[in-house]
Amino acid sequence: MKINKICCIGAGYVGGPTMAIIAKKNPNIQVTIVDINEARIAAWNNSDVSKLPIYEPGLAEIVKETRGKNLFFSTEIDKAIDESEMIFISVNTPTKTYGIGKGMAADLKYVELCARNIAKVAKSDKIVVEKSTLPVRTAQAIKSILKNIGSDVNFNILSNPEFLAEGTAVQDLLTPDRVLIGGESDEAIDCLANIYGSWVSEDKILRTNVWSSELSKLTANAFLAQRVSSINAISELCEHTEADVNEVAKAIGMDSRIGSKFLQASVGFGGSCFQKDILNLVYIARTYGLNEVADYWEQVIILNDHQKRRFSDRLIKTLYNTVSGKKIAMLGWAFKKDTNDTRESAAIYVADHLLNEQAEVVVYDPKVSKEKIQLDLNYLNTRTQEENEQLLKSSDSPYQALKDSHAVAIMTEWDEFKTLDWNKIYNDMKKPAFIFDGRNILNKADMNKIGFEYYAIGK
Ligand code: UDX
Ligand code: UDX
Repeated sequence: MKINKICCIGAGYVGGPTMAIIAKKNPNIQVTIVDINEARIAAWNNSDVSKLPIYEPGLAEIVKETRGKNLFFSTEIDKAIDESEMIFISVNTPTKTYGIGKGMAADLKYVELCARNIAKVAKSDKIVVEKSTLPVRTAQAIKSILKNIGSDVNFNILSNPEFLAEGTAVQDLLTPDRVLIGGESDEAIDCLANIYGSWVSEDKILRTNVWSSELSKLTANAFLAQRVSSINAISELCEHTEADVNEVAKAIGMDSRIGSKFLQASVGFGGSCFQKDILNLVYIARTYGLNEVADYWEQVIILNDHQKRRFSDRLIKTLYNTVSGKKIAMLGWAFKKDTNDTRESAAIYVADHLLNEQAEVVVYDPKVSKEKIQLDLNYLNTRTQEENEQLLKSSDSPYQALKDSHAVAIMTEWDEFKTLDWNKIYNDMKKPAFIFDGRNILNKADMNKIGFEYYAIGK
């Protein structure tokens, strides 16, 4: 099958950047990204590319270059499905908040809706590509829906998990470690491999069966998250033994069997994938009665929750066991630097805990809006919207956020935090002035010299 037109349902953190790169590297293919969210599509179409709904270094330039040529953003989902030979599903798959599997299983409602929509609209053969990270055997469910509703249209289902990390999405897409394509039909796999082949070398394109592909994505994220939880577990031990977690990480990372990446101790991992994917793994293992396997992976999450909690507990304890009425400045709200995504960010949980202790929290993040910060907090349902607005404020300036504060908590490793005028900040803060560096980005000796009481992770 010759692919002339593709569409992607879901203009999010995965669909947007992925399709932008595919369009850039395949000028002869027309790429349309559709979404039910009109505001989001309007933002993607904004003539000012600094206002795109997703912040990713390098993305705005690529969108500017391809948009209107062979990259289009639209809300006309049915039309895009009808015209395309290949359809990517890249909608979100949040953890269920109701019913069976609540708090554990992925909610596949949106994926199913997409499949039903494709089945309803399609008049010619289609290749359907799962781009969303999904529990193992979801492709089977999509296939069953497509087969049982569609007329005599032929559907081929491929699993093509995305391995990009937010904040480095463009680079990750341009030079992927590998591209994974799972499927039953060699012809369909070739169609997708050819699209990637315009910039990825053949030896990096892996072909597997659908289930291996689906499970590989969950496993990759589980292994990465496990490394973070492992080093975070050691960080707590370091704090009790005068070992320094950075030194330990460096020493073990130089062992080529271990490797140096993903050993940065932190206030805990966040993001849309790690927790959700591990929960999926745990849920699947439990479904098959594999309780030891489930417990093993669940511990990665338990440790992560502990790390977030331990950070705020330590802050409170150090501030003489009370933060009531004290101003605490939080630097960073995003789950990591170089993204405006805040899903599952440690900052949300740390803020919530501090608010429970009646602290007055003021947040500064260079890319996250005031509105988003309030939404994240309200989503936890700990207190009313009015109470949250009353207790937590945001500021457009780090200096404003820090003025007259008792302590600063660094939640995101934004580069600009390293070069703030810490002397000025010290002068403007209440004394003793405390820094709790949840990302280990500042130098303890420098901060002590200025006069700060400085606490890092694992030191
Ligand atoms: C990603 C991945 O796709 C998913 O596998 C991963 O598990 C979570 O992160 P992401 O692109 O980050 O998803 O999600 P999001 O930014 O929420 O984008 C999804 C988009 O799909 C939203 O814009 C939403 O409006 C859209 N959507 C959702 C539809 O267009 N139709 C639907 O039925 C549901
Ligand atoms: C992850 C995977 O890396 C990516 O391959 C997959 O496609 C989606 O999920 P992402 O969630 O965007 O990507 O970010 P990632 O860089 O993996 O970071 C996840 C979290 O772990 C962040 O909160 C980050 O700050 C934290 N982290 C990461 C650490 O605390 N320490 C580390 O050493 C590395």
